[in-house]
Amino acid sequence: MESIQLNIKQVLPFLPEEDILKKSEQADACNQALHDGSREGSDFLGWVSLPSSITDNLLREVEEAAALLRARCEVVVVVGIGGSYLGARAVIEALTSSFDWLQESEKRQNPVVLFAGINLSEDYLYELTRYLNNKQFGIIHISKSGTTTEPAIAFRLLKEQMENRVGKEEAKKRIVAITDSTKGALRTLANSEGYKTFVIPDDVGGRYSVLTPVGLLPIAVAGIDIRSLVAGAQEIEKATGPGTSFAHNLPAIYAVIRNELYRRGKKIEVLVNYHPKLHYLAEWWKQLYGESEGKELKGIFPAAVDFTADLHSMGQWIQEGERTLFETVISIQQPNREVRIPNEERNLDGLNYLAGKRVYEVNKMAELGTQVAHVDGGVPNLLIELPKLNEKYLGQLIYFFEKACGISGYLLGVNPFNQPGVEAYKKNMFALLEKPGFEEATKAIRSRL
Ligand code: PA5
Repeated sequence: MESIQLNIKQVLPFLPEEDILKKSEQADACNQALHDGSREGSDFLGWVSLPSSITDNLLREVEEAAALLRARCEVVVVVGIGGSYLGARAVIEALTSSFDWLQESEKRQNPVVLFAGINLSEDYLYELTRYLNNKQFGIIHISKSGTTTEPAIAFRLLKEQMENRVGKEEAKKRIVAITDSTKGALRTLANSEGYKTFVIPDDVGGRYSVLTPVGLLPIAVAGIDIRSLVAGAQEIEKATGPGTSFAHNLPAIYAVIRNELYRRGKKIEVLVNYHPKLHYLAEWWKQLYGESEGKELKGIFPAAVDFTADLHSMGQWIQEGERTLFETVISIQQPNREVRIPNEERNLDGLNYLAGKRVYEVNKMAELGTQVAHVDGGVPNLLIELPKLNEKYLGQLIYFFEKACGISGYLLGVNPFNQPGVEAYKKNMFALLEKPGFEEATKAIRSRL
């Protein structure tokens, strides 16, 4: 099987191999627990066998819904936040052209996919609705609860805008809701309006939901091959099943290394990419690891940088700041396109020694040079190698990170499938907004401001 690889060579100067192997039994037990549901969070393990349980019928239904939206809409707005948004955006940004969306609609093969409900910025919503004014647009509203403030506000605005423009009947054909199978505000609305719907399985938490319709529908709308994405995830699901030996279980090795580095004072993990298309993959990864592990006063802080841009800013901190971090580099072996550096007669910038070389070779040398410099500077470097950036390897990477996160959370001793900490700010916000039922909290918080 052609596959993503984990290269740990540049970790070994900081963490001897025997210390990694000492944890193998513990990691195997954590992996086993993910499969037999014997530890905390067992109600949310639907993602473990999700890739292999996706049916052809479901994939076809998603593809058909995507085709309908693609036929009707030049823009599709995905409304959702957190786990109901980041996976789709990560895959779409990774696998679509960075500039296609700037083309006029006749020249584009795919609708523009935009995102709303990801903030409470009035300017963002004003500018989005202005942009949509003369566009044929559709909406994919994704919310398990249906009451999350940010997407609920954005959906109200966009629904009203769409209905005013094309009428209620046509609007119903352009809105798809992805939500709980039976309960919640969005389920009730979707049923009463007759929207096309897809279900977010009860046993799959938001941040593990990219391979459900939550991710698959927006990804298919963007013209990406969801079958290859799922097939890639299936390969790693199969390669990491119960009983897989530790030496072959890449997510387990990654999980052990990051926990052992954490125990040795490496409190920050920086996910590094050398391709701006991977920016949102890092955002997805940050949510996955941050929400899964950051609790009970524990957990690695997941950060991310886009190199080489951030080498000109955060590179200083990484090279010489406090030695509390390690890096995990996503390394793409071959780019999908070819660009060669031209010769320049006057050679004022002194770059003619690179003339005829591919930009990718320069990028690769930047990557290798940085790796050595950072290791010399005391920063352990893990490498996750993808032969290419395509659906299959991205599917593999997604499942790799999900599996590693589950194992890692259990190794850390937390429940990786809850997120009690995200409620605190919401309670305060509702109190300040004078939401009915929050009267006492309103008084209490006002007195503190
Ligand atoms: O991972 C999570 O559970 C969260 O990020 C949720 O997905 C996010 O808060 C959105 O919730 P909902 O889908 O209920 O609108």
